[in-house]
Amino acid sequence: MAAERGRPGASPRPACLSKPFLKIVATGALLCGAALPSHSGSLQERLAPCLACHGESGRSETPEVPSLGGQPPSFLLIQLYVFRERQRIAEPMNELTKDLTDDDLRSFSDELAKLPAPVAAGPADPARMAMGAALSARHRCGFCHSPDFSGQNQIPRIAVQREDYLVKALREYSTQERRGYDPSMVEIARQLSEADILDLAYYLANWR
Ligand code: HEC
Ligand code: HEC
Repeated sequence: MAAERGRPGASPRPACLSKPFLKIVATGALLCGAALPSHSGSLQERLAPCLACHGESGRSETPEVPSLGGQPPSFLLIQLYVFRERQRIAEPMNELTKDLTDDDLRSFSDELAKLPAPVAAGPADPARMAMGAALSARHRCGFCHSPDFSGQNQIPRIAVQREDYLVKALREYSTQERRGYDPSMVEIARQLSEADILDLAYYLANWR
């Protein structure tokens, strides 16, 4: 590569392989994209405020703010889209997504999906876990959300989600305040009593 530097008539190089750049890159083994303070760097910067609320480690420590760790990328993408299009109304997400491009939505979702899934900590009450398991079996939650509740495609992970957020989400489906991109959850949540919602949220938040 060194021999090629500055050779007259060499085929045009991308701007990032200009001479000063080559001097900076000592080994010459780095690729443009990897070496430039571009995409991934600024993506991290743009996601920093998101993770301040949602939790850098994938687990949210903020009341009623969902953990994003382990969510399927297609689920994240659809939710960011419906926030932007105001088909799901939730402050502050409508405001935060309104100027994002489709490419932004995609790169944000792909990056957030790499966060590790939260793991349950601490003991859980076996009696309440049994009630939640029975409700989940009756309403076939695991049929769509997958048997370990880790989600699939556009269907979210609900295992070890924050309990307060699970309660909020299920209440909002039951009142149709949140409609979802398809009607499944509204139909299911309408059949749940307030006590069912509390038991299911406890069970899923403590899932292991
Ligand atoms: C000030 C806190 C805050 C910030 C900052 C924030 N969010 Fe959110 N986010 C929320 C809340 C609250 C909800 C849940 C709204 C609801 O109750 O429906 C949410 C929901 C979401 C969801 C849907 C998750 C699910 O399980 O339904 C995604 C995806 C998301 N946010 C991504 C982002 C991204 C990307 C950013 C940065 C551009 C961001 N958030 C910044 C508070 C925040
Ligand atoms: C027929 C398939 C199906 C079944 C059965 C189902 N879900 Fe869902 N669930 C979905 C889909 C699809 C979504 C995403 C909808 C949207 O866009 O809001 C969802 C979303 C959710 C959310 C919101 C999570 C988040 O991060 O925002 C919760 C909580 C939830 N489901 C809990 C349950 C529980 C509890 C049961 C059983 C009582 C259940 N689901 C049964 C398909 C299903």
